[in-house]
Amino acid sequence: MKIVAMVGSVRKDSYNKKLANFMQDRYKETVEIEQLPIDQLPFFNEDEEFSPPAIVKEVKEKILNSDGVLFVTPEYNHSVPGVLKNAIDWLSRVDKVMVKKPIMIVGASKSLLGTARAQMHLRQILNSPGLSALTLPGNEVFVGVSHDKIDENGVLTDEPTIQFIDTVIDNFINWIENTKTFK
Ligand SMILES: Cc1cc2nc3c(=O)[nH]c(=O)nc-3n(C[C@H](O)[C@H](O)[C@H](O)COP(=O)(O)O)c2cc1C
Repeated sequence: MKIVAMVGSVRKDSYNKKLANFMQDRYKETVEIEQLPIDQLPFFNEDEEFSPPAIVKEVKEKILNSDGVLFVTPEYNHSVPGVLKNAIDWLSRVDKVMVKKPIMIVGASKSLLGTARAQMHLRQILNSPGLSALTLPGNEVFVGVSHDKIDENGVLTDEPTIQFIDTVIDNFINWIENTKTFK
């Protein structure tokens, strides 16, 4: 199974990037997770949407050819960071590659809420007509107090969190298989 991931932080020591790296490595026997270079996308420009830069076509193609998309989002001012929203805006137009795409959302922040508000907002965004993505119901992954759960080497060390993400990844994979049979 092939999953592409979008990480909403370009920061070198990003907790969300570390969480994405951890998931990529931990689940590599069951699912291939590839991180998309959304930090290289130019600002969305409606004038260019029918003949977009090559990097936009490349990212869209990878999403089309994937079985699902993993969003790994920080929370900026109670919402998703601009880098993520910019990518989403490109994806919502012309060929609309997110339509009916299975989505799993995780996020890490130092606060107790662990990106809960950003994730609620992200679900709302993904439900807009140009995206119409299928977000995994009944499963939410909020990695709060991330500085105590991800060590100085960037490894997620908090065992209850690891076991919880194991369960949610399993749920996501099973759900993708089931949504495929509905087609
Ligand atoms: C512009 C900005 C806005 C932020 N707003 C929030 C917020 O609304 N809620 C929150 O929990 N943390 C907020 N933070 C703190 C981030 O959760 C923290 O910087 C986190 O480490 C960012 O994710 P990263 O480590 O993956 O880069 C904000 C940080 C920045 C730079």
